[in-house]
Amino acid sequence: MKTALITGATSGIGHQLVLDHLNEGWRVIACGRNTAALAALKQGERGEHIVAAQFDVTDADQARAVLTEVLEGTLGGSALGRVILNAGTCEYMDVDAWDTTQFARVIEANLLGTSHCLAGVLPHLKRGSELVLVDSLARLVPFTRAEAYGASKAAMHYLARSLEVDLGDRGVRVMAVSPGFVDTPLTRRNTFGMPALMSVEDASAAIMKGMAAGKRTIRFPFRLSGPLTLMSWLSEGLQVRMCRWLKKNQ
Ligand SMILES: NC(=O)c1ccc[n+]([C@@H]2O[C@H](COP(=O)([O-])OP(=O)(O)OC[C@H]3O[C@@H](n4cnc5c(N)ncnc54)[C@H](OP(=O)(O)O)[C@@H]3O)[C@@H](O)[C@H]2O)c1
Repeated sequence: MKTALITGATSGIGHQLVLDHLNEGWRVIACGRNTAALAALKQGERGEHIVAAQFDVTDADQARAVLTEVLEGTLGGSALGRVILNAGTCEYMDVDAWDTTQFARVIEANLLGTSHCLAGVLPHLKRGSELVLVDSLARLVPFTRAEAYGASKAAMHYLARSLEVDLGDRGVRVMAVSPGFVDTPLTRRNTFGMPALMSVEDASAAIMKGMAAGKRTIRFPFRLSGPLTLMSWLSEGLQVRMCRWLKKNQ
């Protein structure tokens, strides 16, 4: 039985990815802070194939210690089949009341949290393993109030590409996932209209399909990723003008 490790497994996209991996016959190391949600996964269908790992990704020591213990206990020397680093948060900035703590909170959960998890999982990635980082379509162009979120996700995309350079020699495949708007607790806080909003089931299905095809970057839905990709090919000046227009008309 192959083993997948998924962070952010207690809610939204990560939770659905856990269910889809169980359905495909994987054993899943499900990571998150929410004890009740982790327990519910263990008690659910195919819960005997769940190993729960509870830690806060912003705590480097805790993340490394829990991951090392769980991985050594679960794998017994064999390699991890797949790691999906998906845990993350989103908060929007206000340039009239710049909050450095808020900025740090987003960078810590998304970017530093990913690095903290990497410290625990990298020794268990061997030839044939897959490493998947979840960023966002927001990384493509400069959206209003996304100074923290967009910066964290653009950095995560760079991180994925750089890891691809260094892990390719080891035979580890690195993939980046850039979702559009997905209906989860994270986006239910948004007060603006979300174009091409999709369900977690559809989002997870797109990710599963992209990973099975070995795509380096999995972007969806095309209705949003297509125009944003085209925008990202324009000059930075034009991108800023278009994003100012979007801000006024959202
Ligand atoms: N929803 C979207 O439209 C969308 C679009 C593009 C990208 N994304 C990205 O997709 C990922 C999942 O988002 P989602 O929409 O599924 O959000 P969600 O429903 O809010 O789930 C977030 C997950 O991340 C975990 N998490 C957050 N902070 C954590 C921390 N400090 N330590 C450990 N785990 C932590 C949460 O677990 P606990 O609560 O148990 O700690 C939860 O399982 C995020 O990286 C997000 O940026 C989402």
